[in-house]
Amino acid sequence: MDKIVVLDFGSQYSHLICRRIREFSVYAELVPYDISYEELQKLNPAGIIFSGGPSSVHSSDAPIPENRVFDMDLPLLGICYGHQLIVNKYGGKVKRANREYGSSLLTVDSDKDLLNGVGESVRAWMSHGDEAEQIPEGFKVIGHTESAKAAAIASEDKSIYGIQFHPEVVHTEQGTEILKNFVLKVCGAKQEWTMEGFIDAAVEKISKIDGNVLCGVSGGIDSTVVALLIHKAIGDRLKCVFVNNGVLRLNEEKEVEGMFRDNFKVNFTSVDAAGIFLEKLKGVEDPEKKRRVVGEEFVRVFTEFAKGNGPFKWLAQGTLYPDVIESGVSKGPAAVIKSHHNVGGLPDWLNLEILEPLRELYKDEVRKIAEILEVPEKLFMRHPFPGPGLSVRIIGEVTPQKLGICKVASKIVEEELMEAGWYEKVWQAYAAVGDDKAVGVVGDERKYGNIVMIRVVDSIDAMTADWTRLPHGLLEKMSNRITNEVEGVTWVTYTISSKPPATIEPQ
Ligand code: XMP
Repeated sequence: MDKIVVLDFGSQYSHLICRRIREFSVYAELVPYDISYEELQKLNPAGIIFSGGPSSVHSSDAPIPENRVFDMDLPLLGICYGHQLIVNKYGGKVKRANREYGSSLLTVDSDKDLLNGVGESVRAWMSHGDEAEQIPEGFKVIGHTESAKAAAIASEDKSIYGIQFHPEVVHTEQGTEILKNFVLKVCGAKQEWTMEGFIDAAVEKISKIDGNVLCGVSGGIDSTVVALLIHKAIGDRLKCVFVNNGVLRLNEEKEVEGMFRDNFKVNFTSVDAAGIFLEKLKGVEDPEKKRRVVGEEFVRVFTEFAKGNGPFKWLAQGTLYPDVIESGVSKGPAAVIKSHHNVGGLPDWLNLEILEPLRELYKDEVRKIAEILEVPEKLFMRHPFPGPGLSVRIIGEVTPQKLGICKVASKIVEEELMEAGWYEKVWQAYAAVGDDKAVGVVGDERKYGNIVMIRVVDSIDAMTADWTRLPHGLLEKMSNRITNEVEGVTWVTYTISSKPPATIEPQ
């Protein structure tokens, strides 16, 4: 299959370049900028893209790929920092300029190849400090903006292009057309990357493995798709286990059990460990300790299952492409804000090998596979949910009373968002509860009850988030329902802190 390789120079949009290209059915892969020439050759790319990045080509520690990468005689497109790198490398000049951020009007000077069919001018998204002052010999300007005279350049005989703007972001009009021109016309890549093709290839590959596979399922889309793919390949040699940890959303365990029982013919076991988890959580107030307790108990229950139902040779996991990249590329010592728990930490003596059928995929590709495999639509819509569940939405100790409030109030928030057509528009939505109380009045009686916090946020990747400006009428309806229907609640508040400085979950 034809492949485009994107060298990552650290732009926040690097992944987007790959995603845009995959959207028009060509496989694109992100690699660190300092990949060795030999490794790059092994990937056998049809073309190379240099991403943007925060550096300046003038800094002493500017990231630069190996020299031989430039001699590969492959079509090359540089975006933003990548553009400046090309200008610098081929003998042009890059100058420090005033920072330009936002949308500019790009005037097309030549509509051959790269800018073919985009029109006379388009709005293009800029985010850069340096800019090309003098272009290298053999190159010509094919597009300019008011402030960047060489916003798009080309050496058509070498098939090397540089653009100062970001075609991968939606704010650039015709950005996908520009990428298509490079990938399909300049590189001549064939559009062979389809999810139907991926399923066939994955099933064929998995069907060759021997031994049994153990898969923890949560009812979320990733683990469900993993289970279905493996089941298609090896049938009942796959065993799925779902653990009810007692801190799930209202009726979640029944819904997940129902889905696996009624929709899929997968070998599925539900372990009800709610009592043990809640017992272990008794008296625990510290958020990180709660995470640890849930994580450790999960591993214990999982190990027990593996021991009693094995032997297993493989452990299936729903790792996605961005996780693979994150762990492979050193991003420096990022501070641990919250420890996220997953299925790590299983004992070595289980001797499990890891099976990760989704490790090449982005989330939207997993959704497409789920659609093809006829996973109920309800599952696609479900908001992400943290591994430690409601234990991180209950501030202080997890008590049965607060757990009940959190479950029912969150259900009300979800129901009202769905009813008003907002559920799919927001990233996450729930009600949290702590130990703070406030006075209310019910009939003529004074009541001292819990305060519930509604949290609804918009986000694209959970790295940053903004509180959702919900209509006041909708908030009022949620509040009324919560104080009327949830025993022990007197006040309802709406959280209006964004991330940063807050986080999405309260703990
Ligand atoms: P924060 O609260 O850090 O959350 O802004 C970012 C995203 O991660 C989810 N989250 C978790 N997921 N285990 C998980 O699997 C965890 O411990 C955990 N903590 C937060 C959170 O729901 C949000 O989508």
